[in-house]
Amino acid sequence: MFVIDKAIKILKKGGLVAFPTETVYGLGADAKNPKALKKIFAAKGRPIDHPLIVHIAETAALSDWACDIPEEAWILANAFWPGPLTLILKKAPGVPDLVTGGQDTIGLRVPNHPVALELLKKFGSGLAAPSANRFGRVSPTTAQAVVEELGERVGLVLDGGSCNVGVESTILDLSGPEVTILRPGMITSSQIETLLNKPVRTFKKNAPRVSGALESHYAPQTKVQIVSTQELQQFNDPSMVIVARSKGSFKNQIFMPADPEAYAHVLYQTLRELDKKNFKEIIIEEIPEKAEWDAIRDRLKKMAVKNSRV
Ligand code: TXA
Ligand code: MG
Repeated sequence: MFVIDKAIKILKKGGLVAFPTETVYGLGADAKNPKALKKIFAAKGRPIDHPLIVHIAETAALSDWACDIPEEAWILANAFWPGPLTLILKKAPGVPDLVTGGQDTIGLRVPNHPVALELLKKFGSGLAAPSANRFGRVSPTTAQAVVEELGERVGLVLDGGSCNVGVESTILDLSGPEVTILRPGMITSSQIETLLNKPVRTFKKNAPRVSGALESHYAPQTKVQIVSTQELQQFNDPSMVIVARSKGSFKNQIFMPADPEAYAHVLYQTLRELDKKNFKEIIIEEIPEKAEWDAIRDRLKKMAVKNSRV
């Protein structure tokens, strides 16, 4: 595939290539090249101390990047990789500080997308890749969205269609005594608990080093409010748009799917399109309190935080 070869050339020279994963598009750079890594932070406008996830082609490469790897990491990798799970482990010596934000841990995952896997295999090493959006904004789930976010800042965008999962990976910290979810994703804590046969903590407080855990993140430019099903009617105003699973007779409504996988798949693209339409507010119907909605609830809350200060 010619375009993959072109991507490899750019990456080997220390350039940036955006590529599709099953979650969202990533902005990739050679994880061993500090000059290339610096370009990621510049392109995103991201603070330099926020660590990056390193994408690898296969589970066996874990030991190139991490050390003191617990048995649980191999069990999880065998069960969920390639897939939307990032493992935080003790970093191996020689991993650039820019990847880890100067911490002694590293985030690693094998993405489940044929283009990403081909790219990683041909590249032959790890690619650091945050979501390919400007810092704090909605992650891109199509190649077109990457271009809208980053334009000339990225050398090449590999088009792999729209991302299946649609929200970012579950981040699981295995570097300490307890197993902790730092960012919920579509692989849920109960799936992990069942597999490991032990309790999994969920990290609640803000951790500045986990940018997705900042109070405000993943935010469209339009103000977002989350309201209950009963309250929706109060926002039935031509200047607003209602994003809801339940049917109503609203002036502007986007119908959302009733199951969490389908909802996650369309969420970011829906918001991205609504952002272009200059509504005064985007009103999102609250979602079920069930665990399979955790990742979506997390993202919706963070979008609404920024906007409630406007
Ligand atoms: O699905 C995903 O994870 C996407 C695709 C492209 O793989 N990537 C992604 O990257 O969401 P990013 O940089 O937008 O979010 C990664 C999160 C950040 O919040 C970062 O702080 C956290 O992972 N992270 C990375 N390494 C870490 C570490 N060593 N310790 C704690 N958090 C870490
Ligand atoms: Mg991100």
